[in-house]
Amino acid sequence: MRVIVTENNEQIGQFVGSMLVRTVQEKPDATLGLATGSSPEGVYAYMIQAYRRGEVDFSKVHTVNLDEYLGLTPDHPQSYRYFMDTHLFDHINIPKDNTYVAAGIGYPENCVKQFREVLDRTHVDIQLLGIGEDGHIAFNEPGEVLRCGAHVEALAESTIAANARFFECEEEVPRMAISMGMGDIMRADRIVLIASGPKKVDAIRGLIMTEDIDVRNPSTMLKLHRDVTVVIDRALAELVGYTEE
Ligand code: GLP
Repeated sequence: MRVIVTENNEQIGQFVGSMLVRTVQEKPDATLGLATGSSPEGVYAYMIQAYRRGEVDFSKVHTVNLDEYLGLTPDHPQSYRYFMDTHLFDHINIPKDNTYVAAGIGYPENCVKQFREVLDRTHVDIQLLGIGEDGHIAFNEPGEVLRCGAHVEALAESTIAANARFFECEEEVPRMAISMGMGDIMRADRIVLIASGPKKVDAIRGLIMTEDIDVRNPSTMLKLHRDVTVVIDRALAELVGYTEE
């Protein structure tokens, strides 16, 4: 696992945005695994800028997203489909048909079935990840066991509280989501996880400061992957006690 420390959150966006852009420059028909949340916003802003500068062409790129809330329509402002459209897809030349965000409405078992079919025929070149305060990746929450394939997940109380900032009130946060499983994430060729801010200290400490693989911090499973880059800012690195060699 490679750990990169940037000066600030903005530089995380530039560093990781350029990783994704480079992936597409080298492989114009690459498949990008994408994430939502506050953390990737700078990454997507960088990708849009690179596109506007004429440095990258997304016309042959495919994308698949990690997860979606159950119960939100694609045009709901807090749905992850809406997030992806407004933060990235509407501003670059990717055909919308090339982008997949799992359906959040309909029978959950059908949403899962369709997501699994998409993942079965998808090879992700690089997977972008954020991390939850409790160490979740996608919506794989800590628990007695972790799930391998796409599934419906009940959100942890701390996740509902953390994500309430995007909604009018906590009661409006969906309690269930459809998520890639740990195995789906681990099958990506390369993984890049980004984090900043004091709320991620415990999760990042477990990921980069110990050798443990622990279901209580699902991100720690990434230690089994051959090509993971963790990008954090200096403030977070100091809080977890990480020093560069
Ligand atoms: C949500 C998403 C995760 C994301 C996490 C952290 O729960 N399902 O994929 O990593 O939020 O989000 P943020 O970057 O806003 O802290």
